[in-house]
Amino acid sequence: MSDKLIRVFLFLVALFLAVPSYLLWRNAIIDGWPEDFNGWLGLILPPAFTITALLYAIFYRHASQMDETLQKHMDKKTGCGKVIFVTLFSILFILVGAEVIVSHVVKHEPVQTWEYYAYTLIFVLWVVGITVKLKNTNIMKNVVVISTSLRPGSNSNMLAEQFAEGARVAGHQVEFISLRDKEIKFCIGCLSCQKTGACVIEDDVPAIMESVLNADVVCWATPIYYYEMSGQMKTLIDRMNAMYPKDYRFREVYLLTTAAENEDYTSAGTENGLMGWIECYEKSELKGHLFCGGVGGPKEIEGNAKLHEAYEMGKNI
Ligand SMILES: Cc1cc2nc3c(=O)[nH]c(=O)nc-3n(C[C@H](O)[C@H](O)[C@H](O)COP(=O)(O)O)c2cc1C
Repeated sequence: MSDKLIRVFLFLVALFLAVPSYLLWRNAIIDGWPEDFNGWLGLILPPAFTITALLYAIFYRHASQMDETLQKHMDKKTGCGKVIFVTLFSILFILVGAEVIVSHVVKHEPVQTWEYYAYTLIFVLWVVGITVKLKNTNIMKNVVVISTSLRPGSNSNMLAEQFAEGARVAGHQVEFISLRDKEIKFCIGCLSCQKTGACVIEDDVPAIMESVLNADVVCWATPIYYYEMSGQMKTLIDRMNAMYPKDYRFREVYLLTTAAENEDYTSAGTENGLMGWIECYEKSELKGHLFCGGVGGPKEIEGNAKLHEAYEMGKNI
């Protein structure tokens, strides 16, 4: 069953349960409120199920945005695929809804003890199912880290590696791209990409662009060159102009910067420059900028506390 069908099905289940909920509440308002605990249970549980079914339907809308690999991984990780959860609980919900309609709305019978236990059990299962699913959805993010320094022993690259490691430890799927072995030519400004969706230049950029488009999180790492991002990072951003009119998945952007100076203003220009890119993708935002100043020579960052901060940043995305 496709995600779209599952969602439609779940919305129908929610609608189906909304009917007895409405009838029960309408009856209570007209005939008077219940006097015992069981009566109140019979009144509260159906709307509770309706809301839960709605939540599950909305959750599946989110899940369907994940690519197939991620979805499969998620199902493997939880050990309980969407088919089991959705089918089993939806059937249970329909049975409960039918039971509520027949016994309480049609026959006006009070809630039985076994019904109370059955309702509670199903409700708990639903909540557990949703929690597990939501937790795993949040955990699994597609992360792309783009390290733009070209020099061996790069400080910003070491920050990037720590960020990537933190993200991996937290259970995310991480792709680490270093521009050191990549061919990236200058943008020639022809703008044909805005019509065709592809760049006329053949090099490594289209593959990097695909990774960025499919990532939930994009992390840029750059040395600061003349109070700005590195030229190679700027060139890559210019060349990725083809993705401007396209649909993109990333919502979170991180920036890691290193420089010889360690002043408050040293990294401001780089952040401003990147903001120019982020603002073109309205659904995304700069979630964090980690600057490590005072590191001029290669590997000078070794032993610096900022490495741990980068690790924590990656772990907490
Ligand atoms: C072309 C160039 C320009 C630089 N401009 C600055 C600068 O404006 N401010 C600064 O503090 N450091 C500047 N630096 C020093 C680098 O930012 C610093 O060495 C940084 O740690 C390099 O990062 P990496 O090891 O990841 O390449 C510059 C270095 C180069 C090569």
